[in-house]
Amino acid sequence: MTSIPTVTLNDGTWFPELGFGTYNLTGAEGVDAVAGALAAGYRLLDTAVNYGNEPEVGEAVRRGDVDRDEVLVATKLPGRDHGYDETIASARGSLERLGLERIDLYLIHWPNPSVDKYLDSWRAMIRLRDEGLVRSIGVSNFTEHMLTRLIDDSGVIPAVNQVEMHPYFPQAALRAYHAERGIRTESWSPLARRSELLSEQAVVDIAAAHGVTETQAVLRWHVQLGSTPIPKSGHAGRQRENADVFGFRLTDAEVAALSGLERGRLWDGDPNTHEEM
Ligand SMILES: NC(=O)c1ccc[n+]([C@@H]2O[C@H](COP(=O)([O-])OP(=O)(O)OC[C@H]3O[C@@H](n4cnc5c(N)ncnc54)[C@H](OP(=O)(O)O)[C@@H]3O)[C@@H](O)[C@H]2O)c1
Repeated sequence: MTSIPTVTLNDGTWFPELGFGTYNLTGAEGVDAVAGALAAGYRLLDTAVNYGNEPEVGEAVRRGDVDRDEVLVATKLPGRDHGYDETIASARGSLERLGLERIDLYLIHWPNPSVDKYLDSWRAMIRLRDEGLVRSIGVSNFTEHMLTRLIDDSGVIPAVNQVEMHPYFPQAALRAYHAERGIRTESWSPLARRSELLSEQAVVDIAAAHGVTETQAVLRWHVQLGSTPIPKSGHAGRQRENADVFGFRLTDAEVAALSGLERGRLWDGDPNTHEEM
């Protein structure tokens, strides 16, 4: 089992340098996959109301033999529940579906700027944190402008911003802003959803130079850039492979070569225009 190192978030809590994505892991197979990830050493499980698998993730946490306080369960507020009272009710619904007494990381899934209620949701999330129902609060898919607005309005800096990030979309400017504000970057679709990224020559060469897989080379790139990737895999062997990236180090030139693959988002997930309910 891989031991995944941790960092400290701006609210003083620990957070793994690599976590587990659960999108599409549903039903009995989903519970088995998430329980397998815990057995492989993952300690951060990323779900969302809109993945429809909060019950499966909660069940895996209860079933696994990992102490509850050593596992972080992250879930996300859907767009249809934006607003102060709606957010409080939505969090309670998530807790019920998870069957857990606490959400460890609660994120606003998408900002949905045309709805313009994320400031209200954020105030509710601060209350949920103060009441102990939520351990850490953060956001997902927020731009620098949206983050600044949120911080100026509330005085509370999100602990995490989970955003699309992979070598095709390295997010250099946003990461620099996060570093200034002490926000932890989390990378969604860190493997670019297994697109042609894994057969890019730079990826193949760097993996060969370290005697690791292409996937491991890419995940190591995230770690060295200070972002927590949350790769998803339904297969035990790949889960172990993806977690095993703490025994080698890329050179600065290799990190730069992977960042040099930049070409843009995988799909049109621009948070200024893309909205999800
Ligand atoms: N906040 C947001 O808006 C947002 C958006 C998208 C995703 N997310 C989160 O980010 C997580 C990860 O993103 P993602 O699921 O879109 O994509 P991803 O983790 O980049 O890629 C997942 C794909 O890669 C395959 N894969 C995983 N490990 C592999 C390996 N070692 N070798 C070969 N193929 C491998 C998986 O297949 P197998 O399962 O068959 O191994 C799956 O098809 C999601 O599960 C979700 O939790 C958040």
